[in-house]
Amino acid sequence: MTALTVPRPMRLAVFASGGGSNLGAIQDAIDADRLDAVEAVVVTDRRGIGAIERAEARGVPVETIAPASYADEGAFAAALLDVLARYEVDVIALAGYLKKIPSPVVQAYAHRILNVHPSLLPAFGGAGMYGERVHRAVLAYGAQFSGATVHLVDDEFDSGPVVLQQTVPVYEEDSPASLAARVLEVEHEIYPLALSLLAEGRLSLDGRLVRISSQ
Ligand code: GRF
Repeated sequence: MTALTVPRPMRLAVFASGGGSNLGAIQDAIDADRLDAVEAVVVTDRRGIGAIERAEARGVPVETIAPASYADEGAFAAALLDVLARYEVDVIALAGYLKKIPSPVVQAYAHRILNVHPSLLPAFGGAGMYGERVHRAVLAYGAQFSGATVHLVDDEFDSGPVVLQQTVPVYEEDSPASLAARVLEVEHEIYPLALSLLAEGRLSLDGRLVRISSQ
């Protein structure tokens, strides 16, 4: 059993590619003293997104690191590692981030990178399964429940150890958008909670099983 320990307060890098509603939920949790963390930096792969506005509104530094700007994955990884070191980051939270984290970063931050995915993994996950595509696939399959998963990030898309999951019902009249909205609500609940459990040192790893200790 490996206890997952991080410094307190943990210095958090949030990686985003979109509106940043999960970043917002994390910020709300910090403000409400439900999450003992410091927003060290917001890292994006593109400009002109809501996540950047949310960061700038709170004076949180933003670093935009576009993979296409680098000759190869190694150079991209080096750029990410440089930013993470410069801001003394302890934990990385992928929040609507669409790029794969290069292996050197996964290794350097082993068991300290989390992601939120809008389905009950391992169902409806993996490469190419993001955003509305996920909910369209859930509806097409006829699943009666969906939900959100927070998991530790490993070298593959959406395959790391599950930290928390929360289900939502799927209704006959659902569209991908209505299901997405229902799932997003539970993402905003379980992501800050998962990060808080990590910050409080209540997570340990038993093989690929995450154990949560009581208070
Ligand atoms: C959402 O679909 C969410 O399920 C996934 O990324 C998308 C955007 O999230 N994690 P956000 O609003 O940018 O946090």
